[in-house]
Amino acid sequence: MKFFVDTVNIDDIRLAHDLGILSGVTTNPSLVAKEGVDFRSRLQEITAIVNGSVSAEVIATEAEDMYKEGKELAAIAPNITVKVPMTLDGLKAVKAFKEEGIETNVTLVFSGAQALLAARAGATYVSPFIGRLDDIGHSGVSLIGEIANIFNVHNIDTQIIAASVRHPMHVTEVAKQGANIATIPPKIIHQLIQHPLTDKGLDAFLADWEKAKGD
Ligand code: E4P
Repeated sequence: MKFFVDTVNIDDIRLAHDLGILSGVTTNPSLVAKEGVDFRSRLQEITAIVNGSVSAEVIATEAEDMYKEGKELAAIAPNITVKVPMTLDGLKAVKAFKEEGIETNVTLVFSGAQALLAARAGATYVSPFIGRLDDIGHSGVSLIGEIANIFNVHNIDTQIIAASVRHPMHVTEVAKQGANIATIPPKIIHQLIQHPLTDKGLDAFLADWEKAKGD
């Protein structure tokens, strides 16, 4: 499983890149609003740092407008992936982008059937939102397993991005269930790195080394 970061914060993206773990970035309108940045110029900055896919979401809701908007976003850099919502118009737009060789990420996926439809329409990626499913009492992690199974049985090469990841356990669980990618908030990278036994062990090694050195 690869890691994407789910943010438009440039320092967080740079840090993940410097750690050598970064295969891509996902963004969404809420993250852009939170950061208060100009979306297109921020996309330019992000795509200059990251070699992999950078998802940029369309705001339009009708297929033709999605297509127009997506083409403009895709023109920003070759590694832009156009993010499209899982709607009837979204699927039409995905088909059109596929014919043009433009990568797409179908977002707001909450069922195996939606993922299958998106894949058949030509999506490069599907993004099941696991945390939001957990919020309403369904298992987001199980959905990842279900989609991985469907794609496997039917030889579908659309990549599964586990999205709406809320805590470190989600990351290991979706990796076990067959997600190709987890897109994670930067805070979770720090949580994943830390372990109290690592800290304790390092403290002991450093203290022993001080003793071994003598005066
Ligand atoms: C993914 O592409 C989305 O940007 C994101 O994971 C949504 O997460 P949230 O449910 O925490 O907003």
